[in-house]
Amino acid sequence: MDFTKVVNKTVKEIKPSGIRKFFDLANQMEGVISLGVGEPDFATPWSIREAAMYSIEKGKTFYTANRGLLELREEICHYQKRRFNLDYKPEQCIVTVGGSEAIDLALRTLVEPGDEVILLQPSYVAYTPGVELAGGVVKNIILTEENEFKLTPELLEAAITDKTKAILLNYPSNPTGGFMTREDYAKIVPIIKEHEIMVITDEIYAELSYEHQFCSIAAFDEIKDQVILVSGFSKAYAMTGWRLGYVLGNEYIIKLMNKIHQYVIMCAPTAAQYGAIEAMRNCDHEIEKMRQAYLLRRNFLVKTFNEMGLKTFTPQGAFYVFPNITSTGLTSEQFCEELLKDQLVACVPGTAFGEAGEGFIRVSYAYSIEQLKEATKKIKIFVEKRTK
Ligand SMILES: Cc1ncc(COP(=O)(O)O)c(C=O)c1O
Repeated sequence: MDFTKVVNKTVKEIKPSGIRKFFDLANQMEGVISLGVGEPDFATPWSIREAAMYSIEKGKTFYTANRGLLELREEICHYQKRRFNLDYKPEQCIVTVGGSEAIDLALRTLVEPGDEVILLQPSYVAYTPGVELAGGVVKNIILTEENEFKLTPELLEAAITDKTKAILLNYPSNPTGGFMTREDYAKIVPIIKEHEIMVITDEIYAELSYEHQFCSIAAFDEIKDQVILVSGFSKAYAMTGWRLGYVLGNEYIIKLMNKIHQYVIMCAPTAAQYGAIEAMRNCDHEIEKMRQAYLLRRNFLVKTFNEMGLKTFTPQGAFYVFPNITSTGLTSEQFCEELLKDQLVACVPGTAFGEAGEGFIRVSYAYSIEQLKEATKKIKIFVEKRTK
């Protein structure tokens, strides 16, 4: 039987993740130091683990409400108010299987065949496939290092057409570490309002903001109802394996998103939800400890890469640096492949995040400072050989 004829064409044509492809190569080699994974190296704070275990001990092993435990949704709303001064009610919230599910729900709820969704490139690997699987058409805005990977009003205005349904934002950004301040957002908000486009804002790295106070685009009352806010527990609370995130937005849209969620997922994992209540209530100090550790690592990497001649923008959030490797004369893919073969260090080519990532590599600092020191020593040897 020819299976290529029975499968969905869009699924067939989706490209595999550039990160995966590269790491399959690295996995076949021994002794590789990887700076590739976007996953905290910390274990989940103990009190969160304990709360989840206690819930299992108590036999809380059933489905929860589709939208998630009311107690958790209330805590999420308190947390968003306390940390970012945003007002949401539990009816405006769905607890999801990671931020990943929330992004998918948002896209599938909004997009109709042919609708354009604006993405900022370089961007997180799941966005383009997410738009295409929802039947949409990706419209890329290319961000540049000169603009610190920020979205400017000029870039936004030029990308909007009468087919534009939504824009997907992600600040602090994976992979660039770019950041939008309140003032930066203030310049684009009137355009979003005027054109009545929806905003999906992936704020999964909000707690990992370094120089500036984090500001959500949902803080602008004039467009708040146009904003679908996605966040989660993976990054800030080191809870990647728990698979828990959430989405906040206009009550009508959340109600529609919940239709998909209830039929496809039923509810997010119950024990993880109990752990998350503890995270929201009592773990600000744990986040702060991790944030401080990431900040030290970021400072180390930015300095080290710049000193070895790879111009590196200072990321203001998340846990990635995005060094410019054009001085080596190699493409992003060549750089990563040769570095891997020559020095057994794995980074991700910038092109894994779209063509706009050419000339860059992504280095994650969700690794111990010892690992970062060892890896950068080896990268330095490689760069010196290349640029002699
Ligand atoms: C920008 C961004 N959004 C969403 C996700 C998915 O996170 P989650 O584990 O909550 O599904 C990631 C994970 O790497 C990410 O970097």
